[in-house]
Amino acid sequence: MLEKEIIDFAKEYIEELFEGEFSGHDYWHTIRVFKLAKYIAKIEGADEFIVMLSSLLHDVDDRKIFPKTYDGKKNAVYFMEKCGLDDEIIFKVLNVIDEISFGKNEKSPSTIEAKCVQDADRLDAIGAIGIGRAFAYGGNKNRAMYDPKISPKLNMTKEEYRSSKSTTINHFYEKLFRLKDLMNTETGKKIAIKRDAFMRKFVDEFMREWNVEF
Ligand code: ADP
Ligand code: NI
Repeated sequence: MLEKEIIDFAKEYIEELFEGEFSGHDYWHTIRVFKLAKYIAKIEGADEFIVMLSSLLHDVDDRKIFPKTYDGKKNAVYFMEKCGLDDEIIFKVLNVIDEISFGKNEKSPSTIEAKCVQDADRLDAIGAIGIGRAFAYGGNKNRAMYDPKISPKLNMTKEEYRSSKSTTINHFYEKLFRLKDLMNTETGKKIAIKRDAFMRKFVDEFMREWNVEF
């Protein structure tokens, strides 16, 4: 298959796979990450095909979304083998997918391709879209938007983070406001600065409205 055909086929594949998924990692999240990653890759001089394919497949084996089907890299490998891709490309893509899920305290990705996709994935968690996703996630998990009695917990371990019942506003302090400084590429950083500023303005206004005295 031609590279362009594989990319189109991957888009069709994820559209079907993510059908009915509204927890924050849906088809449109993947498409937004794909567009951002492609843009960053072009400017940063990364291998665009590896970046495009990795971004489209980055969530297809996420155990939060596919807990029952999770089995190593099942969906990603299945898809790439069906396209007849060489082992070398399959290996590179799997490496990107593995590396982008590094937690904030672990090392940063080893390849420029993984750096681009990780930046794109993180950019989709901030800015106006990030705000929307955070509240959608909170609603999906029955979390409060905000509770002045619960304060943010910084420096949580991975386990504490996963089991935390924190509010959505706290999530901005616990994760989202920190992503700007974790960007790998200059291109990602530029976009992150703008999105971060918008998000901070939103939280300031949210708190102002919450605390206003009439
Ligand atoms: P990833 O797998 O990309 O690290 P997560 O599963 O942590 O992402 O988050 C997916 C989306 O849900 C992101 O937009 C993130 O900000 C949001 N989210 C994750 N945890 C929370 C939370 N505790 N409160 C509000 N939003 C959250
Ligand atoms: Ni993602």
